[in-house]
Amino acid sequence: MASISSAFSLSLALFLGFSSTVLHLTEAQQLVQGLSWSFYDSSCPRLESIVRKQLQEVFKDDIGQAAGLLRLHFHDCFVQGCDASVLLAGSASGPGEQEAPPNLTLRARAFRIIDDLRRRVHRRCGRVVSCADIAAIAARDAVFLSGGPDYDVPLGRKDGLNFATRNATLANLPSPTSNTSALLTSLAAKNFDPTDIVSLSGGHTIGLSHCTSFTNRLYPTQDPTMGKTFANNLKANCPTANSTNTTVLDIRSPNVFDNRYYVNLMNRQGLFTSDQDLYTDRRTRSIVTSFAINQTLFFEKFAIAMIKMSQLSVLTGRQGEIRANCSVRNSDNLSLSSVVGEEEGSWSAF
Ligand code: HEM
Repeated sequence: MASISSAFSLSLALFLGFSSTVLHLTEAQQLVQGLSWSFYDSSCPRLESIVRKQLQEVFKDDIGQAAGLLRLHFHDCFVQGCDASVLLAGSASGPGEQEAPPNLTLRARAFRIIDDLRRRVHRRCGRVVSCADIAAIAARDAVFLSGGPDYDVPLGRKDGLNFATRNATLANLPSPTSNTSALLTSLAAKNFDPTDIVSLSGGHTIGLSHCTSFTNRLYPTQDPTMGKTFANNLKANCPTANSTNTTVLDIRSPNVFDNRYYVNLMNRQGLFTSDQDLYTDRRTRSIVTSFAINQTLFFEKFAIAMIKMSQLSVLTGRQGEIRANCSVRNSDNLSLSSVVGEEEGSWSAF
C-alpha cells in the first residue's frame, strides 16, 4: 500500500466557521471488488451534492442528527455488512434487526432522513442509487458538516434482501461494557487493527447516550478509572441505574467533530468502559495520546478506518437490489407492484 502521507493532500474547506481538512485517500485505500470511486459519475452525477445540500439544511435546524446518521451507518456495517439491512422494518416473520437492543437507541429521525435523501436522489436520477450508499455518504457528510474531515466514499453497494436476527445483531455490535481486550478480539475478526479501533471510537466525539448505557460504572460501586467530578455530574444527571435521561458523549465539545474525545479519555472523562479502557490499556494508550495531541493525525486515521468499515461485506454487482423505499425490500413493496406507484417512472432501470 502506498504511504498514506504521500497519497493524500490537504486543503482547507470552510463550512459553518470550521476549517476542515479534505483528505484524498483514493490512491492509498484498497477497494473491495465491485465498489469504485466514480460509480455514479454518469448515472447520477449530482448524487453527492444533493445529499450534502439537504443535510446542510437538516443540520442547520438540529446538528444532533449528524450523530444519529453516523451511528446508523456503523450499526448497518457491523451487522451483516453495509447492506442497509438495519433500515428494513420488521415483518410478520419476526422482529427485525431494528428491534435488537443496541438498535433501539438509534434515532428514529435518522431513518426518515435517509429515506428522504433516497427520495430526492431517485427523483433526480431514477432508482439507480442504493440506500446503503446513501447511508455511507450521509455518515461522511455528518462527520464533515460537524467539523470533521471530508473524504471520498467508495460507492456501488447494493441493498440486502434480509435483515439480521436479534442474536446476530447482538453478537456483532460491541457492548459499551467491553474492555479493550474484548474490543481488540471482536474487531480483529472484522480485520480492524488497534489504530482503526481507537480511531473509530472517536465517533463518540459527537452525540448522546442514555444513562443505562453507562450506569454500570456508577452503581452500585463507582468505576475507579472514572474522574470523581465527572462521575458526580453523571450521577446528578442519572440518579438511578435505570434513569431514562441522556447525556453528551464528549463533555468538551459535544456537537463538534474534533479530537477532544481523546483529551477526555486522558482526563478520565470517557463515558463507556469501552472508551475509557482505550487509555488504560497499554496496547492502545499511546494511540489515544497521539490523537489527543494531533487532530490532523486523528482525522486521517479516522477517514481511513471509516472507508474500511464502509466496505464490510458489501453486496455489489448482481447481488441484492436497489430499494424503492429504504425500509421495505422491493418484493414487499406494494407501490412497486401496483400500476401507479409512489414515484412513477423512477424505477425504469430496474
Ligand atoms: C467501539 C465500539 C462501540 C461501542 C461499544 C459503542 C457504543 C455506543 C453506545 C452504547 C452509545 C449510546 C447509545 C444510547 O444509549 O443512546 C453510542 C452512541 C454513539 N456511537 Fe457508538 N459505539 C461504538 C463504536 C462506534 C463507532 C465505530 C461509531 C462511528 C464511527 C460510533 C458512533 C456513535 C455515535 C455518533 C453515537 C451517538 C448517537 C446519537 O447521538 O444518536 N460508535 N455508542
